[in-house]
Amino acid sequence: MTPRSRSSAAFAHAKKLIPGGVNSPARAFGAVGGEPLFISYAEGPYLHDIDGNRLIDMIGSWGPMILGHSQPNIRAAIIRALERGTSYGAPTEAESRLAELVIDAVPSIEMVRFVSSGTEAAMSAIRLARGATGRDRIVKFAGCYHGHVDSLLVAAGSAATTLGVPTSPGITKATAADTIVLPFNGCQELEEAFRSQGDTIACVMVEPVAGNMGLVMPTPEFRRLLRELTRKHGALLVYDEVMTGFRLALGGAQEMLGDAPDMTALGKILGGGLPVAAYGGSREIMTKVMPSGPVYQAGTLSGNPLAMAAGIATLEELKRTNPYPRLDVLGRRLEDGLRAACARHGVPATINRAGSMWTLFFTPDPVTDYESAKKADTARFGRFFWEMINRGVYLPCSQFEAAFNSVLHDEAIIDRIIAAADEALVYSASA
Ligand SMILES: Cc1ncc(COP(=O)(O)O)c(C=O)c1O
Repeated sequence: MTPRSRSSAAFAHAKKLIPGGVNSPARAFGAVGGEPLFISYAEGPYLHDIDGNRLIDMIGSWGPMILGHSQPNIRAAIIRALERGTSYGAPTEAESRLAELVIDAVPSIEMVRFVSSGTEAAMSAIRLARGATGRDRIVKFAGCYHGHVDSLLVAAGSAATTLGVPTSPGITKATAADTIVLPFNGCQELEEAFRSQGDTIACVMVEPVAGNMGLVMPTPEFRRLLRELTRKHGALLVYDEVMTGFRLALGGAQEMLGDAPDMTALGKILGGGLPVAAYGGSREIMTKVMPSGPVYQAGTLSGNPLAMAAGIATLEELKRTNPYPRLDVLGRRLEDGLRAACARHGVPATINRAGSMWTLFFTPDPVTDYESAKKADTARFGRFFWEMINRGVYLPCSQFEAAFNSVLHDEAIIDRIIAAADEALVYSASA
């Protein structure tokens, strides 16, 4: 048997039953070539595949697992909840407890509504922004991802501030036409969009620290303009913190950066590995949501008791332990080690990092937006990815995804990742 033969057989079987063999496209490893590893179980900082390989997990379920897998307090909380039934479709005190934790943590949130996925959170936030402002248009930024919401699966049209175009079949031109797509960090384009169409814009949705084109930081000027222009033109500023919420600080990117958006979308860490997401904002805006207001939004499993229990245990643990300073120190150790390894082997690379989120781009130039991210050598990334897998490190399977450290990625694990990269970089040099 080869080291991955069971995964290979499982993938062949899954492909007969599930489109592409996976329930979310990135998992199929399309961007790096080859076949996905099928996972048997996860513990602490490790994934175990069904062929018996143990891998250092650098994706943490694409963000949620900041405390590592199967964290004892979260597991115990889920088991306690499980013993009381799995879903009621009626309110529980746990929902208010998690709401309190979110409101305490995230500076701009006074009220919050729970949903089950980041997609739902982003979609609902947009509906609320439109309902609250009475306007149709929204602004998003190329390279930012907010889930598979129709109006957000849109690319820029031919001119920077003209109508967007669908990026998937099944999205109508009319839907896409209400979305203006601008470059991330594109201050001039943002000013131009507001100058020409400001009174039609309901909201600007942005990943305050972008993670979905690889990690890209916002410039201070871009953040300042986002806040100024939305305020001046009566549009709402929506921070999509599905990835950065509870990751960059307990209060997310907005706490780390000192920003004050009007609305925030949350997910991932919020559910501690179970499906929970949320959108929140000021009391004035959130009371427009049904049943206190007219903007409709609902969910059979919203506020699910197992998921609430996992979320409460996760946020309480993060609040109690404040792991963020240490995550930053260890993130820097990894960044420095990877940068030194790239320099040692003459590999042109740029490393972007914020706390425990990072991306190694195979390009010598700064990565500040989607255009500059796309200059990275994706073929080289694919080779590097497999060389890292062969050395027991499971990176995100695309150059344009952020990697995540957990609190269990200690000095020893970080040094093992650096040592693996030191070898993998050499082999990744040639096709
Ligand atoms: C910033 C951001 N928003 C929204 C989403 C969508 O979340 P979900 O996959 O839970 O629907 C994601 C998913 O990766 C995300 O990174």
